[in-house]
Amino acid sequence: MAHQSALIAQDIEAYLDAHQHKSLLRFLTCGSVDDGKSTLIGRLLYDSKMIFEDQLAALEADSKKVGTQGGEIDFALLVDGLAAEREQGITIDVAYRFFSTDKRKFIVADTPGHEQYTRNMVTGASTADAAVILIDARKGVLTQTRRHSYLVSLLGIRHVVLAVNKMDLVEWSQGRFDEIVADYRAFAQQIGIEAFAAIPMSALRGDNITEPSANAPWYDGPPLMRWLEDAPVEDDLREKPFRMPVQWVNRPNLDFRGFSGLVASGVVRPGDKVKALPSGRESTVQRIVTFTGDLDEAVAGQSVTLTLADEIDVSRGDVLAAAGNPPAVADQFEATLVWFDEEPMLPGRPYLLKLGTRTVAAQVAEPKYKVNVNTLEHLAARRLELNEIGVCNLSLDAPIAFDPYAENRDLGGFILIDRLSNRTVGAGLLHFALRRSQNIHWQALDVDKAARARALGQAARVVWLTGLSGAGKSTIANLVEKRLAADGRHTYLLDGDNVRHGLNKDLGFTEQDRVENIRRVAEVAKLMADAGLIVLVSFISPFRAERRMARELMAEGEFVEVFVDTPIAEAERRDVKGLYAKARAGQLKNFTGVDSPYEAPESPEIRIDTTALSPEQAAEAIVAWLEKDSAARR
Ligand code: ADX
Repeated sequence: MAHQSALIAQDIEAYLDAHQHKSLLRFLTCGSVDDGKSTLIGRLLYDSKMIFEDQLAALEADSKKVGTQGGEIDFALLVDGLAAEREQGITIDVAYRFFSTDKRKFIVADTPGHEQYTRNMVTGASTADAAVILIDARKGVLTQTRRHSYLVSLLGIRHVVLAVNKMDLVEWSQGRFDEIVADYRAFAQQIGIEAFAAIPMSALRGDNITEPSANAPWYDGPPLMRWLEDAPVEDDLREKPFRMPVQWVNRPNLDFRGFSGLVASGVVRPGDKVKALPSGRESTVQRIVTFTGDLDEAVAGQSVTLTLADEIDVSRGDVLAAAGNPPAVADQFEATLVWFDEEPMLPGRPYLLKLGTRTVAAQVAEPKYKVNVNTLEHLAARRLELNEIGVCNLSLDAPIAFDPYAENRDLGGFILIDRLSNRTVGAGLLHFALRRSQNIHWQALDVDKAARARALGQAARVVWLTGLSGAGKSTIANLVEKRLAADGRHTYLLDGDNVRHGLNKDLGFTEQDRVENIRRVAEVAKLMADAGLIVLVSFISPFRAERRMARELMAEGEFVEVFVDTPIAEAERRDVKGLYAKARAGQLKNFTGVDSPYEAPESPEIRIDTTALSPEQAAEAIVAWLEKDSAARR
């Protein structure tokens, strides 16, 4: 390093030890290139002496070549590392940078400021303890300042500092500074930022960064680096009730069974009563085991293994918590969602929700509203697009332990994952459990599915025909039902066009409506299967995600996917209903195969090639498959 602590040379052990025990502050910088954000971060790195000799030499050379600072060091170059980004004048993604002073270690998340990078900012902010909101003293509080502050407040960052930069360009005017702070205070109160610090500075000149500046004798607060060193963040988590999501169950031999994880909040000691959730079983902590020996206590931020006095059932994904103050358990919530994916959020589509160490399937209902991040207005919305923020209800396939995000970020913050691509498509903040879910219980019935099917002398089935419009699904399904009925089977045929006359007559053909169409029909098919019937479902059902959801609703082996495979050219040539002609003429929008996608099944139980088989032969093949499968399952 160019000029690191003298301890390094004298006593490297002592230095490393001190370094290891320093506290860590994660913070976020909000602002744009124009506000001097890169310069500020570069300056912090430079002043904290975290720049290597060779970087410094390169920086000096670069500054002469491309710098904007007339031969002086251009700190922004240090941060806007990539040449391409530099040329475009924007920085994309979240860059995390590390530096340290004698008092503290820091990780700064540098996120771009434009609205199209809201998801990046949310990612950076979700782990930050503090936020530095940059303002150009000449411009004052801007729309983007408000947007950034809203996100900071939404994500529960309590330590906020307003960095009023470029004070040298307003002659260090105290009047201007006070005006900006007053403006900001009025806004901050509206969005729930209760307290913030404000520092007049010049990142470029180094005023009020590490040392108090003589240029602002009227300012008696700390320079930015001091504020960052002193922000009292560690205590926040420690004072909350004990929570530890279980990462894995450590069972090296029969004599030892420990539960490993990161303490998310609070303190735990041997002898403490803990509750495992969602089961609700209680026990007492016996030992706190770590690689370097047992501990008398573990606090938020430590990774430990706990052993319990009783053999209670705890698995990965469960939460161990203070018995006297446990988190709630529920399977329906209201939450704020931030959408991260190019493909919009579709209400009703099954996503995976990951909260702590737990992953469960989840469906999002239509948003109650979305938020205009610039004006904070609430707007009506049917779905969420990339970077949009909305409030929605969610329902999960299994109950989970949670705290409201406002109380505990680790137990209240979650991500949503697309089940097919595995992409993180959104992030969410839990507000509260929906009471309706707590007041509705599953009613056990004495006559069950098996009894009903027995009475009908058959095994329930859901035979799901998927394929393009005009592929021949309805014709084939109709023939299959006729044969089954002739054999004395009890059946029902759910046909897309027919169901759309009644139950689903409120739905059109947007992606979102198709998702809901399939969700409803899958639920109906499930009820009919529960009644013991052989259910035939004939819907285009163009998306893999929803067909998979339907499959998972049914019992193992009950769902039979039939791909009625007709090439689009052939379906269009037949055009029985004249819809392809209309779609090509532009009179029918969102038509499957024309301007709306069809995702063919990858491994259906049965594939029918309608160019090779007549409808009768196709029905024959399906009935034969069903008979063979039933015989095999008996
Ligand atoms: S799905 O995509 O939501 O599964 P569904 O099977 O219910 O579709 O309905 C498809 C039927 O609606 C088609 O057979 C056709 O008769 C009719 N239809 C009307 N408009 C469209 C459209 N835009 N795309 C596909 N089918 C349409």
